[in-house]
Amino acid sequence: MDKILIEGQKKIEGKIKISGSKNSSLPILAASLLSDSEIKINNVPRLSDVFLMIKILESLNSKVTFNKDFCKIKTSRPDNLRVSYDLVRKMRASFLILGPLLTRYGKAEVSLPGGCAIGTRPVDLHIEGLKMMGANITIKDGYVRAKVIGKLKGTEIKFKKISVGATENIMMAATLAEGVTLIKNAAKEPEIVDLANFLIKMGAKIIGHGTKNIKVTGIKKLFACEHKIMPDRIEAGTFALCVMGCSGSLMLENMNNDVCDHLVKIFSPLKPLYLKKRKKGECLHVTKVNKNLQSVKITTKEYPGFPTDLQAQLTASLLKSNGKLELKENIFENRFMHISELKRMGANIKLKGSKLKIIGVEELLGAEVMATDLRASSSLIIAGLMANGITTVNRVYHLDRGYENLEKKLENCGVIIRRISS
Ligand code: UD1
Repeated sequence: MDKILIEGQKKIEGKIKISGSKNSSLPILAASLLSDSEIKINNVPRLSDVFLMIKILESLNSKVTFNKDFCKIKTSRPDNLRVSYDLVRKMRASFLILGPLLTRYGKAEVSLPGGCAIGTRPVDLHIEGLKMMGANITIKDGYVRAKVIGKLKGTEIKFKKISVGATENIMMAATLAEGVTLIKNAAKEPEIVDLANFLIKMGAKIIGHGTKNIKVTGIKKLFACEHKIMPDRIEAGTFALCVMGCSGSLMLENMNNDVCDHLVKIFSPLKPLYLKKRKKGECLHVTKVNKNLQSVKITTKEYPGFPTDLQAQLTASLLKSNGKLELKENIFENRFMHISELKRMGANIKLKGSKLKIIGVEELLGAEVMATDLRASSSLIIAGLMANGITTVNRVYHLDRGYENLEKKLENCGVIIRRISS
């Protein structure tokens, strides 16, 4: 298992090219199953989650080529419409295969996703939605077995809770269904808009994406298309929080205007962090300025709120700040595994229910720590940057799920960081 060694330092300075979004690539790769024509996707990040999704597509008879950041996919009818536990347990987003397979072939069998380090994360909303569209779904031996006679039927589906994955699964299923599907209380995340734009390029009829009401009018067939994946706002936000934790400045490149505006908005409570759009939003300049942080009260929320995927990194970046620092995790019930590791580095954090209180400390000390999930890993890297001495982060395979070349990108900005492979 690889480890990352990081030598704490005070400054980070340079340029970083932000990769394509993981959370947009995964559903878009799954959506390739909706057509038998060739799909071309640019700006795909080389991440272990992406490689796993490609493995799933290949297990379903798709021919995939992936060179640099360019992915070409051609599907053929799978011999077996089943995605095994072995593939789904490693990545919850594998469940996004269910909607496309069912709507295209009338049948699919996908393992229930396994347990997860950040909470129970059920898939009831995905299943209920597909049932409302006429699917017959049973759960047996840990597998969701879905079939439909003829086509899925468009209907009105109002989610009782906002879910990114369920919105994506139903939106994909609805593209080839009979009639109109109205998704109410849909998630509004930009990655959903990216998926919808991709589906529209394939010929799908979708309106309202990016709002809480999405309307999909089913059609008979989807076609070839080419699409560029949006920038990864969580990766960009993580690097911005590296600057918040240390000092210095970063020019984040390969961005877009909407992602820049979103980051400027969510980080506005962090007064020492100054973000400025450059080149009409293609770049975002992030600088640590000399301002006091008097009080910060941030609650994670669905888009356009503060993303839960940046909560752990935000926590780490504030560990040496003064002021009243309070965070609340509102999306997942147990996304605090990073806290005990941060405490081993000297952090003073009080956790009560879903609320965190951070009491700033003078110094953090480098230590050997263990990554427990993807975003927890990057919070440990940020703490390592802020600490005195050397921090060793174990189990970095979690990091490789969602960050492309993280250590190389930081190294180019003056950070002393090294991967040790064993
Ligand atoms: C996606 C993101 C993940 C992010 C999360 C929330 C991808 C690949 N992953 O995950 O990085 O942290 O959104 O922004 O895009 N829920 C149910 N029933 C369901 C589905 C979800 O109760 O059927 C609950 C979950 O337990 C959670 C909440 O709804 O508490 C939000 O989950 P959801 O938006 O579905 O997250 P994912 O799509 O899995």
